[in-house]
Amino acid sequence: MPFDRSIKIAPSILSADFADFGREIEAIEAEGADWVHVDVMDGHFVPNLTFGPPAVKAFRKHVKTVMDVHLMIAPVDPYIEAYAEAGADILTAHVEAGPHIHRTLQAIRGAGMKAGVALNPGTPAEAVAHLLDLTDLICVMTVNPGFGGQRFIDMTAKIRALREMIGDRPIHIEIDGGVDAQTAPLVARAGADVLVAGSAVFRGGSVEAPEVYGDNIRAIRAAAGA
Ligand code: DX5
Ligand code: ZN
Repeated sequence: MPFDRSIKIAPSILSADFADFGREIEAIEAEGADWVHVDVMDGHFVPNLTFGPPAVKAFRKHVKTVMDVHLMIAPVDPYIEAYAEAGADILTAHVEAGPHIHRTLQAIRGAGMKAGVALNPGTPAEAVAHLLDLTDLICVMTVNPGFGGQRFIDMTAKIRALREMIGDRPIHIEIDGGVDAQTAPLVARAGADVLVAGSAVFRGGSVEAPEVYGDNIRAIRAAAGA
Protein backbone atom coordinates (compact mmCIF):
# COMPACT_ATOMS: atom_id res chain seq x y z
CA MET A 1 0.00 0.00 0.00
CA PRO A 2 2.02 3.01 -1.20
CA PHE A 3 1.18 6.24 0.64
CA ASP A 4 -0.29 9.27 -1.08
CA ARG A 5 -2.49 12.18 -0.17
CA SER A 6 -4.78 12.15 -3.20
CA ILE A 7 -8.50 12.01 -2.45
CA LYS A 8 -9.75 8.47 -1.87
CA ILE A 9 -13.45 7.60 -1.68
CA ALA A 10 -14.24 4.79 0.76
CA PRO A 11 -17.89 3.71 0.54
CA SER A 12 -19.23 2.32 3.82
CA ILE A 13 -21.04 -0.96 3.24
CA LEU A 14 -23.20 -0.11 6.26
CA SER A 15 -25.49 1.41 3.61
CA ALA A 16 -25.34 -1.66 1.31
CA ASP A 17 -27.91 -4.44 1.01
CA PHE A 18 -27.02 -6.69 3.99
CA ALA A 19 -28.25 -9.76 2.12
CA ASP A 20 -25.92 -9.14 -0.81
CA PHE A 21 -22.55 -7.87 0.44
CA GLY A 22 -20.45 -9.71 -2.14
CA ARG A 23 -22.16 -8.17 -5.15
CA GLU A 24 -22.44 -4.77 -3.45
CA ILE A 25 -18.67 -4.68 -2.85
CA GLU A 26 -17.97 -5.71 -6.43
CA ALA A 27 -20.37 -3.04 -7.69
CA ILE A 28 -18.81 -0.14 -5.76
CA GLU A 29 -15.29 -1.18 -6.75
CA ALA A 30 -16.29 -1.47 -10.41
CA GLU A 31 -17.82 2.02 -10.11
CA GLY A 32 -14.66 3.67 -8.75
CA ALA A 33 -14.40 3.10 -4.99
CA ASP A 34 -10.77 3.42 -3.84
CA TRP A 35 -11.22 1.62 -0.53
CA VAL A 36 -14.04 -0.41 1.05
CA HIS A 37 -15.01 0.81 4.54
CA VAL A 38 -16.36 -1.84 6.91
CA ASP A 39 -18.14 -0.63 10.07
CA VAL A 40 -17.94 -3.07 12.98
CA MET A 41 -20.31 -2.22 15.86
CA ASP A 42 -20.77 -4.07 19.12
CA GLY A 43 -23.99 -2.73 20.68
CA HIS A 44 -21.88 -1.56 23.63
CA PHE A 45 -19.35 1.06 22.50
CA VAL A 46 -22.05 2.24 20.09
CA PRO A 47 -25.80 1.62 20.27
CA ASN A 48 -25.95 -0.60 17.19
CA LEU A 49 -24.72 -4.03 16.14
CA THR A 50 -23.35 -5.06 12.74
CA PHE A 51 -20.96 -7.93 12.03
CA GLY A 52 -17.89 -9.69 13.37
CA PRO A 53 -14.74 -11.41 12.07
CA PRO A 54 -16.39 -14.28 10.11
CA ALA A 55 -18.48 -11.82 8.08
CA VAL A 56 -15.46 -9.56 7.49
CA LYS A 57 -13.50 -12.60 6.31
CA ALA A 58 -16.27 -13.38 3.83
CA PHE A 59 -16.15 -9.77 2.53
CA ARG A 60 -12.41 -10.12 1.96
CA LYS A 61 -12.93 -12.50 -0.95
CA HIS A 62 -14.72 -9.72 -2.83
CA VAL A 63 -12.46 -6.77 -1.96
CA LYS A 64 -9.77 -6.12 -4.56
CA THR A 65 -8.81 -2.63 -3.32
CA VAL A 66 -8.19 -1.89 0.37
CA MET A 67 -10.33 -3.28 3.19
CA ASP A 68 -10.59 -0.50 5.77
CA VAL A 69 -12.10 -1.91 8.97
CA HIS A 70 -13.49 0.60 11.49
CA LEU A 71 -13.97 -0.96 14.91
CA MET A 72 -16.64 0.68 17.04
CA ILE A 73 -16.15 -1.86 19.78
CA ALA A 74 -14.74 -2.03 23.30
CA PRO A 75 -12.56 -3.75 24.25
CA VAL A 76 -10.49 -3.96 21.05
CA ASP A 77 -7.39 -5.93 21.95
CA PRO A 78 -8.96 -9.42 22.27
CA TYR A 79 -10.21 -9.18 18.66
CA ILE A 80 -7.16 -7.79 16.82
CA GLU A 81 -5.82 -11.18 15.75
CA ALA A 82 -9.25 -12.23 14.45
CA TYR A 83 -9.47 -9.15 12.20
CA ALA A 84 -5.94 -9.78 10.93
CA GLU A 85 -7.00 -13.31 10.03
CA ALA A 86 -10.15 -11.92 8.43
CA GLY A 87 -7.91 -9.96 6.06
CA ALA A 88 -8.22 -6.33 7.19
CA ASP A 89 -5.64 -4.07 5.54
CA ILE A 90 -6.30 -1.19 7.91
CA LEU A 91 -7.74 -1.69 11.40
CA THR A 92 -8.98 1.42 13.19
CA ALA A 93 -9.73 1.58 16.90
CA HIS A 94 -11.33 4.45 18.78
CA VAL A 95 -9.15 6.41 21.16
CA GLU A 96 -12.17 6.41 23.51
CA ALA A 97 -12.48 2.60 23.46
CA GLY A 98 -9.96 1.80 26.16
CA PRO A 99 -7.24 3.07 28.48
CA HIS A 100 -4.27 1.60 26.58
CA ILE A 101 -4.40 2.92 23.03
CA HIS A 102 -0.59 2.65 22.59
CA ARG A 103 -0.76 -1.07 23.26
CA THR A 104 -3.71 -1.41 20.88
CA LEU A 105 -1.98 0.39 18.00
CA GLN A 106 1.23 -1.56 18.53
CA ALA A 107 -0.73 -4.81 18.54
CA ILE A 108 -2.50 -3.87 15.29
CA ARG A 109 0.81 -3.19 13.55
CA GLY A 110 2.30 -6.25 15.19
CA ALA A 111 -0.45 -8.33 13.58
CA GLY A 112 0.61 -7.02 10.16
CA MET A 113 -2.06 -4.38 9.54
CA LYS A 114 -1.98 -0.60 9.18
CA ALA A 115 -3.12 1.00 12.43
CA GLY A 116 -5.84 3.65 12.50
CA VAL A 117 -7.11 5.70 15.42
CA ALA A 118 -10.58 7.28 15.41
CA LEU A 119 -11.81 10.34 17.30
CA ASN A 120 -15.42 10.95 18.27
CA PRO A 121 -16.68 14.49 17.63
CA GLY A 122 -16.29 15.38 21.32
CA THR A 123 -12.65 14.29 21.47
CA PRO A 124 -9.98 16.94 20.74
CA ALA A 125 -7.15 16.60 18.20
CA GLU A 126 -4.64 16.60 21.09
CA ALA A 127 -5.85 13.11 22.07
CA VAL A 128 -3.63 11.69 19.28
CA ALA A 129 -0.64 14.04 19.68
CA HIS A 130 1.41 11.32 21.37
CA LEU A 131 0.31 8.58 18.96
CA LEU A 132 1.65 9.93 15.68
CA ASP A 133 4.53 7.47 15.41
CA LEU A 134 2.20 4.55 16.06
CA THR A 135 -0.52 5.36 13.58
CA ASP A 136 -1.07 5.20 9.82
CA LEU A 137 -4.50 6.83 9.72
CA ILE A 138 -6.49 9.24 11.88
CA CYS A 139 -10.25 8.94 11.45
CA VAL A 140 -12.12 12.12 12.33
CA MET A 141 -15.74 11.27 13.06
CA THR A 142 -18.13 13.92 11.78
CA VAL A 143 -21.10 12.17 13.40
CA ASN A 144 -21.37 10.30 16.69
CA PRO A 145 -20.72 6.73 15.55
CA GLY A 146 -23.42 4.09 15.45
CA PHE A 147 -25.59 4.78 12.44
CA GLY A 148 -25.42 5.75 8.79
CA GLY A 149 -27.34 8.69 7.40
CA GLN A 150 -26.72 11.14 10.25
CA ARG A 151 -26.19 14.87 9.89
CA PHE A 152 -22.60 16.09 9.35
CA ILE A 153 -20.98 17.83 12.35
CA ASP A 154 -18.43 20.44 11.29
CA MET A 155 -14.97 19.34 12.45
CA THR A 156 -12.89 21.42 10.02
CA ALA A 157 -10.93 23.14 12.82
CA LYS A 158 -9.95 19.73 14.21
CA ILE A 159 -8.97 18.46 10.76
CA ARG A 160 -6.76 21.52 10.19
CA ALA A 161 -5.10 21.05 13.58
CA LEU A 162 -4.39 17.38 12.79
CA ARG A 163 -3.07 18.18 9.34
CA GLU A 164 -0.59 20.60 10.89
CA MET A 165 0.34 18.14 13.65
CA ILE A 166 1.03 15.38 11.10
CA GLY A 167 3.41 17.45 8.96
CA ASP A 168 5.33 15.17 6.59
CA ARG A 169 4.46 11.94 8.36
CA PRO A 170 2.73 9.35 6.13
CA ILE A 171 -0.58 9.45 8.03
CA HIS A 172 -3.95 9.54 6.27
CA ILE A 173 -6.73 11.80 7.55
CA GLU A 174 -10.05 10.02 7.06
CA ILE A 175 -13.44 11.65 7.53
CA ASP A 176 -16.40 9.50 8.53
CA GLY A 177 -20.02 10.57 8.80
CA GLY A 178 -22.33 12.74 6.72
CA VAL A 179 -19.87 13.11 3.84
CA ASP A 180 -21.56 14.04 0.56
CA ALA A 181 -20.93 16.39 -2.35
CA GLN A 182 -21.84 19.37 -0.13
CA THR A 183 -19.56 18.55 2.82
CA ALA A 184 -16.65 16.92 0.91
CA PRO A 185 -15.09 20.24 -0.18
CA LEU A 186 -14.98 21.52 3.42
CA VAL A 187 -13.09 18.50 4.73
CA ALA A 188 -10.82 18.15 1.69
CA ARG A 189 -9.80 21.79 1.95
CA ALA A 190 -9.03 21.31 5.65
CA GLY A 191 -6.59 18.47 4.85
CA ALA A 192 -8.52 15.20 4.64
CA ASP A 193 -7.57 12.62 2.01
CA VAL A 194 -9.89 9.64 2.72
CA LEU A 195 -13.62 10.31 2.53
CA VAL A 196 -15.92 7.63 3.91
CA ALA A 197 -19.44 7.86 2.56
CA GLY A 198 -22.33 5.47 3.15
CA SER A 199 -25.70 6.93 2.30
CA ALA A 200 -24.26 9.42 -0.22
CA VAL A 201 -22.77 6.56 -2.29
CA PHE A 202 -25.53 3.95 -2.04
CA ARG A 203 -28.48 6.36 -2.32
CA GLY A 204 -30.63 5.65 -5.36
CA GLY A 205 -28.52 2.73 -6.63
CA SER A 206 -28.48 -1.06 -6.35
CA VAL A 207 -26.52 -3.98 -7.76
CA GLU A 208 -29.02 -3.84 -10.62
CA ALA A 209 -28.35 -0.12 -11.13
CA PRO A 210 -24.69 0.24 -10.10
CA GLU A 211 -24.08 3.21 -12.40
CA VAL A 212 -25.84 5.32 -9.74
CA TYR A 213 -23.05 4.35 -7.32
CA GLY A 214 -20.57 5.53 -9.93
CA ASP A 215 -22.37 8.85 -10.38
CA ASN A 216 -22.48 9.35 -6.60
CA ILE A 217 -18.77 8.51 -6.16
CA ARG A 218 -17.78 10.83 -9.02
CA ALA A 219 -19.90 13.66 -7.59
CA ILE A 220 -18.19 13.41 -4.19
CA ARG A 221 -14.72 13.16 -5.76
CA ALA A 222 -15.34 16.12 -8.05
CA ALA A 223 -16.67 18.22 -5.18
CA ALA A 224 -13.67 17.33 -3.01
CA GLY A 225 -11.27 18.30 -5.79
CA ALA A 226 -13.00 21.60 -6.52
C1 DX5 B 1 -20.96 5.72 11.47
C2 DX5 B 1 -20.07 4.89 10.57
C3 DX5 B 1 -19.94 5.46 9.21
C4 DX5 B 1 -21.24 5.51 8.47
C5 DX5 B 1 -21.21 6.64 7.50
O1 DX5 B 1 -21.00 5.16 12.73
O2 DX5 B 1 -18.77 4.79 11.12
O3 DX5 B 1 -18.94 4.80 8.44
O4 DX5 B 1 -21.56 4.35 7.79
O5 DX5 B 1 -22.47 6.74 6.93
P1 DX5 B 1 -22.98 8.06 6.25
O6 DX5 B 1 -22.02 8.39 5.15
O7 DX5 B 1 -24.34 7.70 5.78
O8 DX5 B 1 -22.97 9.14 7.32
ZN1 ZN C 1 -17.02 4.10 9.79
